[in-house]
Amino acid sequence: MERKMTVADGGGGFDPGGVRRDFSILESGLVWLDNAATTQRPDGVLAAMERFYRRQNANPRRSVHRLGNEATQAFESARERVARFIGGAPEEVVFTAGTTAGINLVVGGLAEEELGEGDEVWVSAAEHHSNWVPWQQAVLRTGATLKVIPLREDGRLELDVLRAGVLRGRTKWVAVTWVSNVLGLENDVAAVAQIARDVGARVLVDGAQGVAHLPVNVGRMGCDFFAFSGHKMYGPMGIGALWGRGELLAEMTPTVFGGEMIARVDDGESVWAEAPWRFEGGTPHVAGAVGLGAAVDWLQGLPEGAHEHEAVLARVAAERLAELPGVKVWGAQEGRLSLVSFSVEGIHPHDVAQVLDDRGVAIRAGHLCAQPLLRRLGVAAVARASFFPGNTLEEVERLVTGVKAAQELLA
Ligand SMILES: Cc1ncc(COP(=O)(O)O)c(C=O)c1O
Repeated sequence: MERKMTVADGGGGFDPGGVRRDFSILESGLVWLDNAATTQRPDGVLAAMERFYRRQNANPRRSVHRLGNEATQAFESARERVARFIGGAPEEVVFTAGTTAGINLVVGGLAEEELGEGDEVWVSAAEHHSNWVPWQQAVLRTGATLKVIPLREDGRLELDVLRAGVLRGRTKWVAVTWVSNVLGLENDVAAVAQIARDVGARVLVDGAQGVAHLPVNVGRMGCDFFAFSGHKMYGPMGIGALWGRGELLAEMTPTVFGGEMIARVDDGESVWAEAPWRFEGGTPHVAGAVGLGAAVDWLQGLPEGAHEHEAVLARVAAERLAELPGVKVWGAQEGRLSLVSFSVEGIHPHDVAQVLDDRGVAIRAGHLCAQPLLRRLGVAAVARASFFPGNTLEEVERLVTGVKAAQELLA
């Protein structure tokens, strides 16, 4: 505990204050513990977006004038940065509106065409609705079946159930989250991918809660698709990326038709452009892509110890909350990356969040878009505090004190 205090307070070499200074929005003293819903954006990301609109604004890949070329270059150079960030090739990176859009593109453009009666799709019990509902709807439309990888008591995936299941049934797709947005634990997606590949199934990884905290390498994961959102990794809202294996992107059908996604349009039919542009019909969110590229740079420039620091905060928060009578902390302590979800006996999570908000501490409360998981935990809603490297142990104390205050006031 003593060592943790040293690390989190900067004495161990990492200074949360240095990170925090990049965020004007936090100057008011706001305690932002809702980073898993959306991170704040460093001033450098905002400046990069503003620079694009002030100096380079044009519609990319259309106009031959100077600004048109600059906008194209800004857009494509952001794609290259994102590709390097995840260990993929630029032509395998599709800009999307976010994780949800990326998953829907894979489901609508490829999975649904491959699925039929008797086929099986596996998701885990820890999925966000974004990686549950698209598959649920796909199986309803195609006559396939949705199967669920259960969780062990500690919140980790029961991989033996998946292993046995894929051998028994006709598994076509396995779609899992890298990090649960409720439990905050990293899933062994490489092991999941291996199990799926052994039976020739395709694998999609929802990377939304991992990209801000873990090094990404899609090749090492062994997945076929990897979807994530810019706004959960210090980038803008409304932009994200889908990485897909080149040969699969070549097979995938676009789901948005229109400008700049074609090679040729005849009266009666069209020929698509190459990937990834065939999946980016319409004027793209160039400022968003530029901001995402800047966010990648910012994230990669974080000082050493930043991710250990957020893990320390999450662990200390979980320990301190679990010590309070009537508070239940969800998920294993070991491997907790950056967040803690909890329930306070006799108090609705919304009320806990309200009391904390009155004290200047912002947390998330509700079903966290993970109703299948919450049902399995036996609750309708939870409270969640999620950290970034600019948070401090003092803020963890304010969280704990606020929860105690909620108990005194409402329990
Ligand atoms: C694990 C996970 N997947 C997917 C999403 C959806 O992300 P977006 O709303 O940016 O599409 C979220 C957002 O909370 C998430 O936590």
